[in-house]
Amino acid sequence: MPSDIAFPGRFPSTRLRRNRRHAWLRALVTETRLSVDNLIWPLFVHDLPEAAAVPAMPGVSRLSIEGVVAAAAEAVSLGIPAIALFPVIDPSLKTDDGRLAVDPDNLVCRCVRAIRQAHGNALGLICDVALDPYTSHGHDGLLRDGEILNDETVAVLRQQAVVLADAGCQVVAPSDMMDGRVGAIRDALDQHGHDGVAILSYAAKFASAFYGPFRSAVGSAANLGGGDKKTYQMNPANGDESLREVALDIAEGADMVMVKPAMTALDVIHRVKAGFGMPTFAYQVSGEYAMIHAAAAAGMLDLEAAMLESLLSIRRAGADAVLTYFAPTAARCL
Ligand code: PBG
Repeated sequence: MPSDIAFPGRFPSTRLRRNRRHAWLRALVTETRLSVDNLIWPLFVHDLPEAAAVPAMPGVSRLSIEGVVAAAAEAVSLGIPAIALFPVIDPSLKTDDGRLAVDPDNLVCRCVRAIRQAHGNALGLICDVALDPYTSHGHDGLLRDGEILNDETVAVLRQQAVVLADAGCQVVAPSDMMDGRVGAIRDALDQHGHDGVAILSYAAKFASAFYGPFRSAVGSAANLGGGDKKTYQMNPANGDESLREVALDIAEGADMVMVKPAMTALDVIHRVKAGFGMPTFAYQVSGEYAMIHAAAAAGMLDLEAAMLESLLSIRRAGADAVLTYFAPTAARCL
């Protein structure tokens, strides 16, 4: 029995089922709550006038900028505090060095400006800092002779973060897993008058099979070919190492830390929250979403119940907020 749990006594004087006997009593003794305040909605934006469905993610589409502005209005009306934006870049614009990432007129910057114009500061805007939407090889960093270059990539990420902050993004989220990028981005933001822009670090991001649908949605799967990201994303076998990643990112100035994926790393979420007491976010990634949908479509699970239980479990593990493609659906249920 862990020392922080009161010893429950003995049967038959102690009967734990007593507290489960009535709905009102179950409500009173509920430990973890899921609220719309805990949800962040990831959205895909492309540079086309019409929305295009993402085949592996039922209910998710790549949206035009106008479509994202409308979704942002929906988020505001549902009470969802923030959205996370992911650009789908035309393959003809991708380059080896992903230089479009630092262009202030790129798709995501235009989208950020449009949202800020429509919604001011009423809605949080979180943007990924990573090169994978922009590189012809699909990697998050610069590639030379088969190697992902760390420090050279970080130099570009600094510029990317500043360009996003200039456009009006209030939270930048480095998702690339290069070493030292949080400190470098903090420094660049401060130098450019953005000391109020927060950093949500994808601190413990595992090299996961569950990103598959996302990569097909943004087109990086094709660019990556058979390649993987194991030289920068973490080995799913390693829990202690994830704590070192988080510790470093906090030391470098992360305002919030993220664990990703969520359901395969609930232990990591728990250790991070318990160990650091930081605002801790979790990303219920595309594969987790697809898996629940597929099982529901096959009649194997109840979609709404499985969705809410999955989100609640991520909260119980210790996540303050969850990035989830279920955000609008869950918000309607709550
Ligand atoms: C890329 C990035 C990825 C996701 C968010 N940002 C994919 C990857 O690392 O290959 C995955 C999100 C998801 O699967 O829902 N920097």
